[in-house]
Amino acid sequence: MDGHGAAQGAAGTQEPGIVLTRVRRYNLLVAVMFGGRRRALNTALASASGAGPGDLVLDIGCGPGHFAGLLAQTVGPHGQVVGVDPSAPMIVYANRHAGRRANCRFELAPAQSLDLPDAAFDVVTSTFAMHHIPSEARTAALAQMYRVLRPGGRLLIADAYPSGSVAPRVAHALTWLSRLVRRRSSEDDSQHAADPFADVDVRHHAGALREIGFTEPRFTDVKPWTRYLVTTKPA
Ligand SMILES: C[S@@+](CC[C@H](N)C(=O)[O-])C[C@H]1O[C@@H](n2cnc3c(N)ncnc32)[C@H](O)[C@@H]1O
Repeated sequence: MDGHGAAQGAAGTQEPGIVLTRVRRYNLLVAVMFGGRRRALNTALASASGAGPGDLVLDIGCGPGHFAGLLAQTVGPHGQVVGVDPSAPMIVYANRHAGRRANCRFELAPAQSLDLPDAAFDVVTSTFAMHHIPSEARTAALAQMYRVLRPGGRLLIADAYPSGSVAPRVAHALTWLSRLVRRRSSEDDSQHAADPFADVDVRHHAGALREIGFTEPRFTDVKPWTRYLVTTKPA
């Protein structure tokens, strides 16, 4: 999901990662990839997050804020949603759209260094953003999610993963194309080239989540492009 107005920072915990700056291009890409089913996916993810009326929710890597806006509807007037993203254009857009709701606001911040209080949130979500964080900073980002969640609070992380009958074939074709391009440009045939989704699979976070103190994560696939995990900070 890279390359649509992405500014790649040098790898490391001090750099935000692959920050998306072209909001309309991103919205278009999502519309094409999900063929109009993104709203239904967001509804399913909001439900799986366990967010309910009156909850305080943090959405990390919120992008244009569509999911945060839906969460704001879910938590209602007595709840609140905060969205964070290191992309200034995403935050400006999100504040202009979903941020018009009184219970929804957006702030500029990378996942790995959140200037938010400990144990403040009932629910933390992050959709399609983990693979944008530098790999060296992902454990720090998960630790921040743990820190800001209240005991008993719930974490949902979703990312791209092809399932069903069509998406794996499309992914296979993309893999083949990416190998061809890399061979032509004499780049190495790394694990990423062998499987463009290898780095994105949310199952990779299981070990770090356990070490940080989260409960055993549960994984669910939503056809055609999504796998998510749900876990809890023990009470
Ligand atoms: C693919 S978009 C997902 C946006 C939104 N969550 C959604 O589901 O449509 C990934 C977002 O992660 C953001 N991002 C990049 N580096 C990040 C970091 N270190 N921490 C949090 N978000 C980051 C990008 O700027 C981008 O808005």
